[in-house]
Amino acid sequence: MQNQEIYNELVEKFEKQYGCKPAAVAYAPGRIEVLGNHTDYNEGYVFSAAIDKGTFFAIAPTDDDQCSLTAGDLMKEVKFSINNVAKASEDTWQNYVTGTFNWLFDGEPAKAGHGWKGMFLGNIPLGAGLSSSAALEMCTVIALCKIYGIEKTKEEMAKIGQKAEHTFAGCPCGLLDQISSLAGKEGQLVKTDFRSLKFENVDMGPTVAFMMVKSNAKHALVDGAYASRREACEDAAKHFAGVLRKKVTHLRDVTSAEWILYRGGLSETTAKRAIHPIGEDERVVSGAELLEKGDLAGFGALMYDSHESSRHWFENSCPELDTIVDAAKAIPEVYGARLSGGGFGGSCCLLVKPEAADKISAAITQAYKTVYGDEPTCALIKPSAGACLV
Ligand code: GLA
Repeated sequence: MQNQEIYNELVEKFEKQYGCKPAAVAYAPGRIEVLGNHTDYNEGYVFSAAIDKGTFFAIAPTDDDQCSLTAGDLMKEVKFSINNVAKASEDTWQNYVTGTFNWLFDGEPAKAGHGWKGMFLGNIPLGAGLSSSAALEMCTVIALCKIYGIEKTKEEMAKIGQKAEHTFAGCPCGLLDQISSLAGKEGQLVKTDFRSLKFENVDMGPTVAFMMVKSNAKHALVDGAYASRREACEDAAKHFAGVLRKKVTHLRDVTSAEWILYRGGLSETTAKRAIHPIGEDERVVSGAELLEKGDLAGFGALMYDSHESSRHWFENSCPELDTIVDAAKAIPEVYGARLSGGGFGGSCCLLVKPEAADKISAAITQAYKTVYGDEPTCALIKPSAGACLV
């Protein structure tokens, strides 16, 4: 479904459910991660983009302390008071919204003074690694800011969403998904430095596009694998802080040359985990230079290297994603391919010649089907504008 149709459907359903028009509607897109995997919480660099699919949130204030929230696809409603905003163990989709509401008011949502009725609807495939949860948080925060007359910077809004993830949803994520959803621009990548949280938009040129290939391997970042990778990175950073004669707070401060020299003292597993974000940072820096020169083949090669690093060092790939990337390597119209986002399932991001899209999806689908019997979902992705009030 196109974004305009989703907006129309949401407004219609909202009026039917709540008997009034929304006072505000906000939109936030999903994201693809192009280069720089698990670097955000290591204070490194990432190339990402907002995509042309997203989530809308319609809202109207209430004049008492009650809130109602409806998932527009399921037409399931939950109710709570601003005096009792807590993590839910049922209908867990609400945690992204209630967590965002909670942290917009610094953990004291009663200070909002009055409640709201809200409904959301979107078209980001769930579990695909396209950050449907961050999109929901970002359209929620923008809609809430509007009805409460609050002003927040992009950085503040991203951090509110991240806190909702950490405390209500249970995923210790970085800020990549939220920043990408907010900072997207049509036809452009977002290059973010997760130390300063400064981002810039980078043009890709019209001759190139992304294709997302969604495997059918389940992607769930709240089951501990993501958290264990993050812990290993933090342990490794502490080790390097002890052995290198310079300030190290995060793996951002360590080079791959230093990893080779000073990895002794780390367990085999922790050393393997650490080299992934270290190498990814170096790849994003080289990738930026290659893009500036228009060297798409060089940039694509770094995407393939990124996937190899996920596969061998970080072990956040899976056979389904490896099959997609291996199939991509045999197609001349694909510049590069890698897993996108947390990993352990979800989607791959391919840098492609758009005119060959049909040929590419047919070849990838065939290769995947031969091994797994079912078909992946291939879709061309247009880097798109970031979150906004509609
Ligand atoms: C998930 C997290 C992000 C980031 C990526 C991996 O999408 O939510 O914060 O860590 O994985 O780069």
